[in-house]
Amino acid sequence: MKSKPSEEISMEERKEEDYENTLKNAVNFRRNFAIISHPDAGKTTLTEKLLLYGGAIQQAGAVKARGEQRKVTSDWMELEKQRGISITSTVLQFLYKDITINLLDTPGHQDFSEDTYRTLAAADNAVMLEDAAKGLEPQTRKLFEVCRLRNIPIFTFINKMDRPGQEPLSLLDEIESELKLLTYAVNWPIGSGDLFRGVIDRSSGEVVLFSRAERGKQSVEQRIKVDDPLLRDLVEKELLDKALEEIELLDAAGSELDLDMIRAGELTPVFFGSAMTNFGVKPFLDSFLNMAQGPVARNASDGPVDPMRNTFTGFVFKLQANMDPRHRDRVAFVRVCSGRFEKDMTVSHARTGKNIRLSRPQKIFAQDRAVVEDAYPGDVIGLNNPGMFAIGDTLYTGKRIEYEGIPCFSPEIFCWLRNPNPSAFKNFRKGVNELREEGAVQILYDIDQSKRDPILAAVGQLQLEVVQHRLENEYSVETRLDPMGYQVARWVSGGWSSLEDVGRIFNCKTVQDSWQRPVLLFKNKWNLSQLEQDHSSLKLSAVAPVVSGVNPITL
Ligand code: G4P
Repeated sequence: MKSKPSEEISMEERKEEDYENTLKNAVNFRRNFAIISHPDAGKTTLTEKLLLYGGAIQQAGAVKARGEQRKVTSDWMELEKQRGISITSTVLQFLYKDITINLLDTPGHQDFSEDTYRTLAAADNAVMLEDAAKGLEPQTRKLFEVCRLRNIPIFTFINKMDRPGQEPLSLLDEIESELKLLTYAVNWPIGSGDLFRGVIDRSSGEVVLFSRAERGKQSVEQRIKVDDPLLRDLVEKELLDKALEEIELLDAAGSELDLDMIRAGELTPVFFGSAMTNFGVKPFLDSFLNMAQGPVARNASDGPVDPMRNTFTGFVFKLQANMDPRHRDRVAFVRVCSGRFEKDMTVSHARTGKNIRLSRPQKIFAQDRAVVEDAYPGDVIGLNNPGMFAIGDTLYTGKRIEYEGIPCFSPEIFCWLRNPNPSAFKNFRKGVNELREEGAVQILYDIDQSKRDPILAAVGQLQLEVVQHRLENEYSVETRLDPMGYQVARWVSGGWSSLEDVGRIFNCKTVQDSWQRPVLLFKNKWNLSQLEQDHSSLKLSAVAPVVSGVNPITL
């Protein structure tokens, strides 16, 4: 805004300027990320240590006693009351050195579903957590692929260095060769397991010594220059020499630390540490905050939307039903993309064109809720959803925009959904259509219209259980699932005509999705690669192209 002599500035302009400054401040001092990892890599442990540095908790270990999820949430509720922080089952928000950090929760293995993928659609950065002994694991790979779709920056934390692990160089090599992601080791470990002595910080040339801190307490970080003769008394010569040799190798042949490449999702900074013993977590957090990107512009129908745009916009990335078993409620989680969101705001709903007053926006906190007064780009708010919001919906004020939808991710479990009781067909149909609309599960259909039973296509077993449970409880229909024996789905990019062009194909089943697009189901990856070899002209995609403005077919 142009500066004018102060007497000429009207109230209106002053308000606008205030708004702009508040927004700028909020955007500059916000970072949002999700942790992608395989179960047991240490996500919960790392999360609690991060919260510890954020001053959210005093003693790590208070957060989670394994297998006591309920206890966790109630602990967090207490914490929120005590410290004024917001921890939700979807987002943990905490303040660290003036930066508001939103940690988006990606559910663990047992809960694995499309929600996990969709949460990544709301993330600006991802932390890839690996167990040093196991390296890349299946769930990490899958989640990484989703991050790659949007090229979001990935920060790698190699955990459990206090335990025997794989050679650090081979861990980097695995990331580079399998994920096609360049690496830059920010620090380098000296020894591992019982012989883990610490890490060498490559930028400062300091050794950070490892001491097994009392469980749950912050470890004291002792630093010593790598050329300090005293170091030789503290660390075995062979271990230090090996680490220094490896660093020389990285200096000579490895990638350089390039912020642009990190931001483009082409290079990952790698940190070695041990979440449980609280080693390397704080330096990781500091470096991460230096390099991570703030709330980024999102693609909408008419181009990217800057977070600094002066009107509120956001999109629904997750729906959750029955968060509170005492009330049959549903919550839509909205990622704020631009402008300031305020309680009681009236927003437009792009898909239906309706105006909605958001009088009870919430930060969902365990089983309890706190009303949100305002929120900024990178934040997540929860809205009561009496069936109005669907995944990917855009909310906005000001000029109409519509964000690009969230893609459907490749399902891996396929079952016929049977309704054994014909008199319940109406409810069955209603339930299936509504649950599909909500994004609880993907629905595919046989191309033979006479086979009317829908096919449930899920990325995780949990989704199937949820669908059956909800059909029974909310729509009063008992259903049966018949597994189909397929494991891989591919969308045919060129549509039906390209499928016709290749003629008869074998070892796969052709079905259609809710937008009548062809989808091929395979029993295994081998059958898929066979088809790809036989018909190289056929372009297949693991992710469904995003649709907007077209109504899906219903049951
Ligand atoms: P998750 O959320 O990714 O599933 O993993 P979680 O943090 O629950 O950690 C899985 C196990 O790995 C836990 O052990 C945890 O203590 C351990 N762990 C996490 N970080 C480290 C580390 O840096 N070093 C070592 N040695 N272990 C680590 P558990 O025996 O399953 O549970 P608990 O009895 O310790 O709670």
